[in-house]
Formats: sequence, C-alpha cells, structure tokens
Amino acid sequence: MIQHRWIRHVGVLASCWSIALFEISAHAQSTNTDLSPLRDLASQCGIWIGPAVAYDPLTGEAIYADTLGREFSILTPENDMKWAPIHPQQFQYSFERADALVAFAGANGMTVHGHTLVWHSAIPSWLSSGSFTRDEMIDILRDHIYTVVGRYNGSIAAWDVVNEAVNDDGSLRSTLWLSSIGPEYLDLAFRFASDADPNAPLVYNDYGNESINAKSNGIYDLVSGMLARGVPIHGVGFQFHITLGGIDLASFAQNMQRFADLGLGIYISELDVRMQLPVTSENFATQANIYAGILDACLAQPACRVFQMWGFTDAHSWVPSSFPGYGAALIFDEMYQPKPAYDALAQGLSQCPSPVVGAKSSHRSANVSKPLAPAQ
Ligand code: XIL
Repeated sequence: MIQHRWIRHVGVLASCWSIALFEISAHAQSTNTDLSPLRDLASQCGIWIGPAVAYDPLTGEAIYADTLGREFSILTPENDMKWAPIHPQQFQYSFERADALVAFAGANGMTVHGHTLVWHSAIPSWLSSGSFTRDEMIDILRDHIYTVVGRYNGSIAAWDVVNEAVNDDGSLRSTLWLSSIGPEYLDLAFRFASDADPNAPLVYNDYGNESINAKSNGIYDLVSGMLARGVPIHGVGFQFHITLGGIDLASFAQNMQRFADLGLGIYISELDVRMQLPVTSENFATQANIYAGILDACLAQPACRVFQMWGFTDAHSWVPSSFPGYGAALIFDEMYQPKPAYDALAQGLSQCPSPVVGAKSSHRSANVSKPLAPAQ
C-alpha cells in the first residue's frame, strides 16, 4: 500500500513537472527533487498541513481519499460539524458524516481541526425560527457544545469555537447569538468547550483579519478581554480567502506577532487563492508565490504551527459557486495534478529545519502551554 502510494506520487509529480512547472516562472523552475509528501516535510518544520474536507468526494472518489491521506497531516470538516448538519433538530444529532471524517483521519495518521461550534451561518431552522429565552439559548448552546466537543474529545487538535463574530469595523456582528444572549455568548462558548475537552486548544477564527486593520484590531481587543477575564482561549485563526492581489506579508507578520505576544497560537485556517477563469500560467506562478509567502511567514513565526487550506483540489472547492467567475484556488488542479503552488509549498517546507525553526522550538516550549504541533 505504501509503495503503491509512493509510486503514484512520483508519477503525479513527474507529469506535473513536464506539463506545467518548467514553463512558468523562476519560482516554478525550482529544482525540488525531494518527493516526500507535504505532511512529512511539514513535520520537519514542526507544523501540521492540511485541507478542509468534504464527505461526498471522500467516500465517492478513491483519488480524493488517496491524495488526502498521502499528503496531509490534518483535516478540517468543511461543513459536517456545523450546526445544521450535526444538530438538525433540537433533540437530534447527526454524527455519521463527521464520524466518518474523524475515522478517516485516525486511520491515516492525521489529526482533526474541529469547525465550528458557534457561527452566524448554517443555523438549523428549529433554532433560527424558535422563540427561546436567553436562559434557554444558553442551555441550548451548552448542550450543543458539550455533546459535539464531548463526542470527539481526544481526537481534535483544535476547535474553532467561535467563527466570524466580528464586523469589518471591529464591532461584534449582529447574530442570533448576540441578540439572544448578548456579548457574553463568546465567553460562554469557550468555557463550555473547555469543560467538554479541557485539552483541546480553543480558537477564535475569522476572515479579513490577516493584516493589521480595524477588524483585526477589534479581534485583538476581543481576545485580550477574554484572556483578562480568564476565558480559556488558546489561538486565533486567520482564514485567508484571498485573490491574486495577495496579502501584505509585513503587516501579517506584525499582526501575528501581537497575537503571539498574548500567548496565543496562530492558525492559518482556510487558505485559498482564487483567480479569474480561465487560468493562465502566469496566474499559477503568481498564486504559487502567494502560497509560498504565507508559508514562509508562518515558518518564521514560532506561534504558527498549522497551515490549512480550504480544500486541496480545484475539483472540489467552494470558490466557483461563492465567487462567480473565479476558481483554481487550491494546490492540486481538477485532475488531482499538483500545481506550481504545490511545488512552492514543498520547496518552502523542505528548507526545515533551519536556524529560524530552531528558535521556533524553544519559543514554543517556553511560551505555549498547549501541544499544538505534531511530535517531531
Ligand atoms: C463554506 C463551505 O466551504 C461551503 O461548502 C458552504 O456552503 C458554506 O461554508 N469561512 C468558513 C467556512 O469559516 O465554514 C466556509 O465554508 C467558508 C468561509
């Protein structure tokens, strides 16, 4: 089995190089001859690497499951742990799909990033159209978090406890949770999650907070307040759903540092880099450089030890339906061939261990109480 996978991997890379890499850019002309899967390279850097995963292709397409198990060390259920799928009726949970993803991870030596316990979206109609008192909403939140987190206790590398609760101007987003419970819902959610799995790192996750801006300032104030109140929060997620315009990497580095200085872990949680269709070689090269730059920023930051993408193959991505006219945002193409972005990540990861990473290890043990990265 292992040999079979390895041979396939070599073949995939070889065909990719012949059709794509050598024609594109200086970055794509890298002579990466280390054919180790990304997960092995990432392990040498002390980070996890992986994608969001959907149940249907995982169970329906052998190449999806093979590529996932071969290349990655962590997966995030793309939808199957959200409220509507996992808790469709007030007194009914539906764990089948989430269980299957967690089982796949376990069988393939991967870990799981739980996503997500509290969000304004994917709320089932029994909850959005019910009329519950504040106390009832708190009870519902507690029951949900205890049940879901409790079920996967021991299998989860980190939980996105609250997702996307902050507006672009830094204020709290108007959600069912805010209107029914008040701002305390955030503290409560983290406390309930900690009760249910005291060992799981607990994360606040959002988009548009990658650079220093009004939104990331609001999140900084929010999590600082939580820490001051003794709320169990251990990390901040930066989603990175971005375009070929890229990101201000200097600002991202500065932003990561201020959260790291609070003692929090940094999670690159949902990266994808979309482009207008049809694709061009030039755009693939630009995309590869963006992936590489974000990885390098993570490797240079001791508190950053997870590099996660929102999918891995352009055959299964939320981008085309969510951003009409855009696509090709991931590191494998629709035929599961690695793209220049894949090679850029392999190149970046193959630089470890380096002096920077040595510094990273000591910082990690000194400053972080939760085990967030795989054992070396
Ligand atoms: C998206 C999924 O990819 C889609 O399949 C679904 O229809 C909507 O949600 N930020 C998040 C993710 O935190 O949960 C979202 O996932 C993408 C944006």
